[in-house]
Amino acid sequence: MTETTTSSGGRPSLPMQGIPQPRRDEVLDLPRVHISTHPVMAHKMTALRDKNTPPPEFYRQVKEIGALLAYEATANLTLETVPIETPMGPMVGERLAGGIGVTPILRAGLGLAEGFREVIPDAQIWHLGLRRDGQTLQAIAYYNQLPHRVDLQVCYAVDPMLATGGSAIDAINVLKRRDIPRLCYVGIIAAPYVLLKLSQTHPDIDIYIAALDESLNDMGYILPGLGDAGDRQFGTF
Ligand code: PRP
Ligand code: URA
Repeated sequence: MTETTTSSGGRPSLPMQGIPQPRRDEVLDLPRVHISTHPVMAHKMTALRDKNTPPPEFYRQVKEIGALLAYEATANLTLETVPIETPMGPMVGERLAGGIGVTPILRAGLGLAEGFREVIPDAQIWHLGLRRDGQTLQAIAYYNQLPHRVDLQVCYAVDPMLATGGSAIDAINVLKRRDIPRLCYVGIIAAPYVLLKLSQTHPDIDIYIAALDESLNDMGYILPGLGDAGDRQFGTF
C-alpha cells in the first residue's frame, strides 16, 4: 500500500474526502464500458478479494483473470486471410491483422499482462511505470519502455485497479502520443468515479473490467475492492 503522508497537523491526508462520486447505477450504461458477466470470472473474483488469499495464489488469480479479460477484450479484433496447407490440402485461414500491444502499468499490471500473454503469446509488452502519490493521488511516471516503431492494430493498457483515474488517464495520454490506431483500457475492479472521468476524458477508448464496485473511500481506495493490488501480488505489505 502506498504510504500515506500526514498534513502539518499530523492527521492522515484524506484526498477524496468531500469529493462527490457518481453512484454505480449512474455509470452502468456508459457506451464504451464493458463489465464481465461471466460466472467463472465472478467465482475467481471472490478468491481474489478474500483478504486471506496469500500473494502466490493472488498473483495466480490475477493472471487467470487477465486471460479471461483478454479473451473478452479481443473479441472484435480484425483478422486477415492467409493461404495455408492443411495435411489434406489448401485452404484460406485467418490470422490477427497487425500486432497486438499490451502495456502493463507497473507494478500491479504485471500479473494481468501475463494473463494476456497466455492468450496472445506474441503480443508486444510495452512497460509503463506509474506510481500513485498517496497524498495527492496524482500519478507519477517513473519508467517508460515504449518502443518508437509502432506496428499495432490495438494496444491494451492493463492495470487491475481503476480508482480515481489519475493513472489510467495519464497512461492513455502517453499511449496516444504513439499514434496507435486503437486503444483499450483493461482492469479488474473499477469505481464508478473513474469510469465517468475516464469516459469523459477519453471517450474514444473501450474499457473492459471484471467488476464495478461501489465507491472510493476518503483515501482513494476502492470499496469493497481488494486492498492494494501491487502489494498483494508481490508480498510487499
Ligand atoms: C495502483 C493501481 C493503479 C493505481 C490506481 O497502483 O495499480 O495503478 O493505483 O489508482 P488511481 O486510479 O487513483 O490512479 P500504485 O500507484 O499503488 O502502484 P503499484 O502498482 O506499484 O502498487
Ligand atoms: N490501488 C489499489 O491497489 N487499490 C485500490 O483500491 C486503489 C488503488
